[in-house]
Amino acid sequence: MTSKDSTAVIILAAGKGTRMKSAMPKVMHKVAGRPLIQWVVETANHLNPEKIIVVVGPDMAVVTDAVAPHQTVIQKQQLGTGDAVKPAMDALKDFEGKVLILLGDEPFLDQTILQEMIDTNAPTVMAVTPPSNKGLGRMVVDTQGNLQKIVEEKDCTSDEKEITLCNAGNYCFDTMQLRGWLTQLGNDNAQGEYYLPDIPAIAGREGVKTKVIAAQTDIGWGINNRIELAAHEAKAQGALRQAVMENGVTMIDPASVFLSWDTMLGQDVLIEPNVYIGPNVQIENGAVIHAFSHIEGASISEEAMIGPFARIRPKSKIGARASVGNFCEINRSELEEKAKCKHVSYVGDAIIGSNTNIGAGTVIANYDGFFKHKSILGDSVFVGSNSTIISPVKIGDEAIIAAGSNITKDISENAMAIGRSRQENHLGWASEYRRFKLEAKKAEEES
Ligand code: UD1
Ligand code: CA
Repeated sequence: MTSKDSTAVIILAAGKGTRMKSAMPKVMHKVAGRPLIQWVVETANHLNPEKIIVVVGPDMAVVTDAVAPHQTVIQKQQLGTGDAVKPAMDALKDFEGKVLILLGDEPFLDQTILQEMIDTNAPTVMAVTPPSNKGLGRMVVDTQGNLQKIVEEKDCTSDEKEITLCNAGNYCFDTMQLRGWLTQLGNDNAQGEYYLPDIPAIAGREGVKTKVIAAQTDIGWGINNRIELAAHEAKAQGALRQAVMENGVTMIDPASVFLSWDTMLGQDVLIEPNVYIGPNVQIENGAVIHAFSHIEGASISEEAMIGPFARIRPKSKIGARASVGNFCEINRSELEEKAKCKHVSYVGDAIIGSNTNIGAGTVIANYDGFFKHKSILGDSVFVGSNSTIISPVKIGDEAIIAAGSNITKDISENAMAIGRSRQENHLGWASEYRRFKLEAKKAEEES
């Protein structure tokens, strides 16, 4: 048994998301690199509820994984938001506190308003007055501001359609009361669905008044299609850019820089136009990210220089004052302090020691078609241009690799390795060769 003061959160995420026209569950679409459902779960977590239960559809293991370790329950058939609450209520059978119900397609929930809903001593529903009321439930309130009923757009009279106060889709009820009201839900409406928004009208018939708690939104509310997804992305990006600039990051053209929900940027980081930063990236003080660079899952240490046109892939670390230049790809590799890899190179599964220089066109061949192999280059190594280092090899400190080498064996400290066929020069052969070729051509033309 739980205390009457505790709160459980139910998040509805079983809908098919038909309007997204996607093979993927709607709540797995991302805003700022994070699935919608994880935005909602994070906000719910901040409320310190006793339990969070996510309602998913039958084939939504990806959602179950995304919300772990929180419990998921399955709504077998998508019969509407009112029906979706039922399997979660079954899972809460010994619970007797308050239940806060959230929708999985609404990533930008204001935590203080949710807390206000929980703290109110009556059933509550969140309301918004968005720029457009299209697709949202309309709220009919009495003269004291109590909610009489919510009417879905498809069930509205022409007068009700004009109502601008809309149902945000979040509700807080006493668990015991909700249990009783849910048994009275019907599906006699335009969509033949069990509507959760019908609960306030059912409560009203028993003399229980529902309070409306208003929230702000400057864009549409909730995500039903790709256009609304893009609008939420734009809003998230605006907020993320503003936050990093307030913390001392310079962006020459903020609108062309994409950040992720967890991007961490130090002071005096400079980001040039057209940069994409995916999830799990940390960039330390004074680093410069030149134009058209793509960074994901990597950490960039202080005063490092990246790009232009560089790609830093997950599990990579670029050391302090190291530099990665144009058309270089760094994959699961570490460049230690002041290492340089400045032109058209691929570094995969390698450690590059401090002050080591990777010449233009170097490839670290880490994959044999079946397995990935790792190479370790020491400090102050010089790798001449257009070398192929075939992993796994170990290269000692201060070694030099001649340009154009194929390296297949370890190189000891301070050794010079040349791994290429020898050049032969044949004196006077050029004119001989030209004469021979011209004769052959003439013979062909005459035949
Ligand atoms: C819903 C509300 C509407 C409100 C709007 C706010 C209903 C009937 N309408 O409309 O009043 O203004 O949200 O955004 O509730 N879901 C299930 N099982 C189902 C159906 C839906 O789990 O059988 C889940 C969906 O995965 C989604 C959420 O419930 O996360 C909302 O469903 P959706 O179909 O998007 O409702 P709206 O039409 O947006
Ligand atoms: Ca919705």
